Amino acid sequence: MEKFYITTPIYYPSDKLHIGHAYCTVAADTMARYKRLQGYDVMFLTGTDEHGQKIEQKAQAAGVTPKEYVDNIVAGIKDLWKLLNISNDKFIRTTDDYHEKAVQKIFKKMYDKGDIYKGQYKGWYCTPCESFWTETQLVDGKCPDCGREVTLSEEEAYFFRLSNYADKLVKYYEEHPDFIEPQSRLNEMINNFIKPGLEDLCVSRTTFKWGIPVTFDPDHVVYVWVDALSNYITAMGYGSDDDSLYKKYWPADIHLVGKEIVRFHTIIWPAMLMSIDEPLPKKVFGHGWLVIGGGKMSKSKGNVVDPVVLCERYGVDAIRYFLLREIPFGSDGNFTNESLISRINSDLANDLGNLVSRTAAMIIKYFGGTLIADREEGEFDDQLKELALATKENAERYLDGMQFSNALTEIWKLISRTNKYIDETTPWILAKDESRKARLAAVMYNLVEAIRIAATLIAPFVPSTPQKIADQLSFNEEALKWENAGKWGVQPASFTVKKGETLFPRIDTEKELRYLQENNMPKTGQTEEKPAYESLPEITIDDFARVELRAAKVKVCEPVKKAKKLLRLELDDGSGETRQVVSGIALWYKPEDLIGKTVVVVANLKPVKLCGVESRGMIMANDMPDGSARVVFLDDSVPAGAKLR
Ligand code: ME8
Ligand code: MG
Repeated sequence: MEKFYITTPIYYPSDKLHIGHAYCTVAADTMARYKRLQGYDVMFLTGTDEHGQKIEQKAQAAGVTPKEYVDNIVAGIKDLWKLLNISNDKFIRTTDDYHEKAVQKIFKKMYDKGDIYKGQYKGWYCTPCESFWTETQLVDGKCPDCGREVTLSEEEAYFFRLSNYADKLVKYYEEHPDFIEPQSRLNEMINNFIKPGLEDLCVSRTTFKWGIPVTFDPDHVVYVWVDALSNYITAMGYGSDDDSLYKKYWPADIHLVGKEIVRFHTIIWPAMLMSIDEPLPKKVFGHGWLVIGGGKMSKSKGNVVDPVVLCERYGVDAIRYFLLREIPFGSDGNFTNESLISRINSDLANDLGNLVSRTAAMIIKYFGGTLIADREEGEFDDQLKELALATKENAERYLDGMQFSNALTEIWKLISRTNKYIDETTPWILAKDESRKARLAAVMYNLVEAIRIAATLIAPFVPSTPQKIADQLSFNEEALKWENAGKWGVQPASFTVKKGETLFPRIDTEKELRYLQENNMPKTGQTEEKPAYESLPEITIDDFARVELRAAKVKVCEPVKKAKKLLRLELDDGSGETRQVVSGIALWYKPEDLIGKTVVVVANLKPVKLCGVESRGMIMANDMPDGSARVVFLDDSVPAGAKLR
């Protein structure tokens, strides 16, 4: 039997996981299920990445030991995978004993090879990403990957001769054009990292303790990425007494990873494997991010959506379907409640759910539930059959290329075609004519066959739905075998259907949007809803008169350096003196949008300094529901200095 070994990244148990993490694992699970259905001997690995400075700090903050800290979170991660119906064959924790021992061996092997030497590290460190950066790699003094603060780190350390591997890596990429996918990520690696020159990599730390000690120099712990990447082979028993799984499954067929960690998987990891003389993985696929309102969903930004809330409300399969259907794998995709609900209602409740329930209902109504199939052929049959028989191959082609969304589109073409077949064949008219009974039975049989094929093909994506369909339409195990999705006429000639539960209940869009907005959305998220209308206490006209509002002409406008949101404006407010104000509208206005315009300035506001620039007063703007702002413009005939009241 041919083997197929697929991995997800191992997750940092530093926070609760969000739907962005679930995305990657659901995709890997779909791939694993697909290959199992095709008859492969599958190994699907996931796990947790538990060492490093970040975890040590979080544990300290929580007042527990690092081990207590991770134990607690890992239990929750395992529960989440269970909830999401993740079919991993193994779960590795980097605190597992066998892993720690094997990593020590790998480190020693690289050292013995002459690839590791002792030195002094001086540079920047991003703790959330656990990554080293040189001065020139920083962007605005921050981590180029995540944009967060970096710290200066200066310590004795071991280095890995990564620089020696640049040419070998490029050669490997050239000889294995499928190694990095999508293609664009390969170009990124070459242009951003290899061409500027690979520097030797710091692979040990001495300024904290929570890691795997270097056997021959125990003041050092192994750099957490070297520890983490090794999981893909240690989980298979590499470096242990029993490496039979390693022999069987390595090299991995696919490492599935998010785009920000492609670098570790296509540069550092292959170089490590070359150093210890082991084969390289066949493919690293870098998928995109789930974003919210333009930013990566991440706990540190506080813009996360909780998968548990969604699964409990709409069912696991609905969430899995949405993740795989809505976002082309490889690209970033915006998460919105609107798109989630619309997918559930239109694709699942309407297209698929209705098709199944209508079909079962018709067989019950017209045949008392037991269909004895007649094969009286008629118009439209061939078109339906032809598409049904082509769908398996079309879906497989996309699945093989990890294009989940396209694969689902192919399957939904069949589902739509089948719905159309009902409209075309008009069973309710056939039912009125006793002499058309045989044709009616044939139509029902064809519907059931088309549904059987679709139900089989959706199994990798929405694993508990096929059985629910099978219960209603009486599909046996044979009927739902993957290879039978390429055949017509598998369903026995006689069978009994029964009415079952609704597969995907229709969602009341307005009600649910309100619920989700309040319970499972970052408050900055995009929404069509009106912001809450909050009244302030009443004031008198005298109170109001204390605010000096004046018309002003924008003379100069420019961005404030190092402050992405700020614009500096010079205003003519009629006083004869230039008034400088700073306004937080740079995300929505360019200087040329404002120069020459007439705006309203709150003139007697106490001056403040914003990012080092003095602001005397502020210009008025509207808060928009999506968090952006619109400047209040006055008619240009209003002279500078005119008072507003
Ligand atoms: O990077 N959308 O762990 P991690 C899509 N421990 N994917 C997302 C995402 C989002 N909004 N947020 C996170 C690590 N991910 C290391 C891996 S592997 C040897 C070590 C994905 O918990 C992210 O891209 O920070 C990554 O692939 C995975 O979640 C784990 O992230
Ligand atoms: Mg990360």
